[in-house]
Amino acid sequence: MATAKEKPGVLFAAFEATPFLKTGGLGDVAGSLPRALKKKGFDVRVVLPKLAVIPEKYKKKMNYITHFYFPLGWRSAYCGIETYTYRGIIYYFIDNESYFKRDGIYGYFDDGERVAYFSKAICEIIPYLEDFNCRILHCHDWHTSLAPVFLRECYSGNELYDNIKTIFTVHNLKFQGQMSDFVLGDVLGLENVPAAANQLRVDKDSINFMKGALVYSDIISTVSPSYAREIQNPFYGEHMERIFQRRWDSLWGILNGIDTTFFNPEKDRAIEANYSKDKMKNKLKCKLALQEEMGFEVNETIPVIVMIGRLTQQKGLDLLTCVIDELAEQTLQLVILGTGDKEYEDMLKGAEGRHPKNLRVLLKFDEKLSHRLYSGGDILLMPSLFEPCGLSQMIAMRYGTLPVVRETGGLKDSVKYYNEYTGEGTGFGFANYNAHEMLFALKDITSLFRSNPKVWRKLMKQAMSEDFSWDHAAGIYKEMYNTVLEEN
Ligand code: GLC
Repeated sequence: MATAKEKPGVLFAAFEATPFLKTGGLGDVAGSLPRALKKKGFDVRVVLPKLAVIPEKYKKKMNYITHFYFPLGWRSAYCGIETYTYRGIIYYFIDNESYFKRDGIYGYFDDGERVAYFSKAICEIIPYLEDFNCRILHCHDWHTSLAPVFLRECYSGNELYDNIKTIFTVHNLKFQGQMSDFVLGDVLGLENVPAAANQLRVDKDSINFMKGALVYSDIISTVSPSYAREIQNPFYGEHMERIFQRRWDSLWGILNGIDTTFFNPEKDRAIEANYSKDKMKNKLKCKLALQEEMGFEVNETIPVIVMIGRLTQQKGLDLLTCVIDELAEQTLQLVILGTGDKEYEDMLKGAEGRHPKNLRVLLKFDEKLSHRLYSGGDILLMPSLFEPCGLSQMIAMRYGTLPVVRETGGLKDSVKYYNEYTGEGTGFGFANYNAHEMLFALKDITSLFRSNPKVWRKLMKQAMSEDFSWDHAAGIYKEMYNTVLEEN
């Protein structure tokens, strides 16, 4: 067996990863992908900020490795390294209370400086990681996007660093870290490095952190093949489309997986009753329990539609705003769970007031409740404007709840649309970002639900038979890692 030192080391850098830190899909991915990659023969270790919001039970178990100071612009910044091994993966936590002792993860006036610090700290800690043959630095989203820039501009000439290839994965192109030009010198200390200054600059007054990663990384990836194509167009490209076009041959699109042990209707203890694709009877129990919990009429013939996730423009909330009343007038029950932008929360609460019989809006984050919705729903609605991958649709299929999605990004790549002639499919799609197209699709789908239970059951079975485990995705990541390691 290869020892740790012989196995190619991958330093996986993100600002959140379950079970330590999570605000969204990035946390899920960074929490589960490393284990799947480890099984493929890589020595994957994860670096995270030691944020105050990490649960105490983990913080207590962290072990101190060392501390030192490094320059960040004119500052001398403290950097502590602590470690903790969780489910076979070594995690490194970067400790700096002035940047990370906050009551949340993001959303502070100095986020630019916090993530610049984190990105540089990622590079700084590499020499201290014992028995680790670091060959790949794999960074995720804008919070780590300066690491590939620093790595090349501040550390090249040192063999340890020159041996490292960089990969940057885009989960969310909306947040790029656009900062004033002042940051370039004051925080990054790169104003006198012409290459970096040119690459980071987007106009004469501002720089863009993510642009740095897109230009400096050896490979760029994103979380579905369709999204990798879409971001080469201005509609999805968020002003970065020219870079994606130019770098199309270094751009990979790899569909995420889900943690199929955690999301498992056969064993899930958060749901009313367990079931599997061969023993579906209990799914109905879950549905009836959900109807009761929501205060709806308990009636198996009424379709229950669920929507779970952030209430933001990305998730298609504008479509819902247009047709929520028309939708609620149909014979159906709709439950929405999540938090997000106030305008959408208010809109939904208003609609709930007008339709108390069949509309429930739960403005919170509640993991266990989300499992009851995945298991008790008939349909999951996900009408996203754009969707790099999307996890809810995969979880829903695993629980036999058929997704209705807008045909974009990862939704397109994970849902097989129902074909009424062949009976194939694992869900439904509508093509255009148009509220009535969504409404008419839902009318057709709920009518299929009522009129043809046999077809519906078959679709449920097909959805539950899909393999969304990380193992498949990890196989493609392995190919990507081997490709970057072979490049000169
Ligand atoms: C972001 C994207 C989502 C993706 C997730 C994990 O949250 O919006 O589509 O599934 O990252 O990659």
